[in-house]
Amino acid sequence: MADIFTLTNKTTGDSIDLNLREATAGPAALEISALYKEKGILAFDPGFVSTASCESAITYIDGDHGILRYRGYPIEQLAEKSNFLEVAYLLIHGELPSTEELSAFEEIIVHHTMIKETMRNLFDGFHYNAHPMSVMIGVVGSLSSFYHDSLDIHDPRHREISAHRMIAKMPTIAAACYKHSASEPIMYPQNNLDYCGNFLHMMFSTPCEPYVPDQIAIDALNLLFILHADHEQNASTSTVRLAGSSGANPFACIASGIASLWGPAHGGANEAVLTMLEEIGDVSNIDKYIARAKDKNDPFRLMGFGHRVYRNFDPRATIIRKMCHEVLDKLADGNNPMFELALKLEEVALKDEYFIQRKLYPNVDFYSGIIYRALNIPTDMFTVMFAIARTVGWVAHWSEMIADPQQRISRPRQLYTGARERNYVPIDKR
Ligand code: SDX
Repeated sequence: MADIFTLTNKTTGDSIDLNLREATAGPAALEISALYKEKGILAFDPGFVSTASCESAITYIDGDHGILRYRGYPIEQLAEKSNFLEVAYLLIHGELPSTEELSAFEEIIVHHTMIKETMRNLFDGFHYNAHPMSVMIGVVGSLSSFYHDSLDIHDPRHREISAHRMIAKMPTIAAACYKHSASEPIMYPQNNLDYCGNFLHMMFSTPCEPYVPDQIAIDALNLLFILHADHEQNASTSTVRLAGSSGANPFACIASGIASLWGPAHGGANEAVLTMLEEIGDVSNIDKYIARAKDKNDPFRLMGFGHRVYRNFDPRATIIRKMCHEVLDKLADGNNPMFELALKLEEVALKDEYFIQRKLYPNVDFYSGIIYRALNIPTDMFTVMFAIARTVGWVAHWSEMIADPQQRISRPRQLYTGARERNYVPIDKR
């Protein structure tokens, strides 16, 4: 028997009983949809700090204990033992694949990596110095004009084909964004390479000479993509769900997710962290910037720090920090002043009462850029990297939402505090 909360108006004595929905893990949720129907009042929760927007079985986060699980599997185990396409299969289908299921999935993804030849003209429409995220939004949004054959969102097979196309083509489109900005020829995918190796090939090979992706870089990308694949109802995933709730095609929904991810408060933070570290420049400036981050009159924030849900270490940041040591030892003989500066900045911040009291810890974006830079990925491509990985989560949540028979358009209300009714005043009377 579910618990019931009774909400009572202490002034009038009027009350309403609200059911408490138990979760399999994490906070229970009060069903409040009757509130407006029966009492004509709304719940007010700007930023959705205490709001469950949906029911989902994909990812679980416990912010107080720094726990992240994909379909029940701890991120630490997946990071150590899995690979990105296996995690993609898990997030979409809900179970780890058998050997046959995984090889069939990999085969499908590999054979969707090319983009239509005429799509390549789209890149030339952008100025050479366009931010790659702006190009991604445009090109991904245009996919529905090239793939008309699988846009019936109520057909599970169409949803599956669109999901495969999205996951497979993101690296191709991302690498093409980079090649366009570098005024280099856009490279075709090589289907003999794995997902991450193929991306590195499309990023760094040229028609002039052979290029063999470095296994250290492939392994680092696999791990970073696993860590970035999904994260519950974050801003960009919620954007994809909201866009999808109207019945918009999946490519347009993913484009809306890319747009939301770009913000510096969200996925854009990984690029902002490197810019911030370059601005700080030296450990001798750390105290000055920590003071700025604490100053309410200064818009400066410690990028890569803080999180809406994690009030403890972001488990992804812990894994990435450890990976920094390993990758930099192999690729940069351990010498990386930027990483040393980041470690010192974390050490100082975590001892400071302002950050302790607000439970501000490094998040997934704090160290990821240091590894991307060690892999020679340009700073303005960092959020693109995030988008490649998070496409799997977006697709999984979009599919979960559309497949829900109870699904309806999401249409939040508001607390109106504008002008009361008034009559039009002719301009000569104003
Ligand atoms: C991601 O939601 C997800 O799951 C996102 C993500 C995912 O995988 O999808 O995990 C990826 O987006 C990680 C977050 C990347 N963003 C940044 O690193 C940007 C810097 N961080 C902040 O802007 C902020 O911490 C947020 C946006 C991440 C969280 O903002 P909240 O939850 O709205 O917190 P808040 O702004 O209410 O902060 C609470 C207090 C405030 O101070 P007071 O008003 O209480 O005095 O903490 C302060 C804030 O000023 N604060 C910071 C800070 N973050 C919060 N102060 C200085 N530096 C910071 N980074």
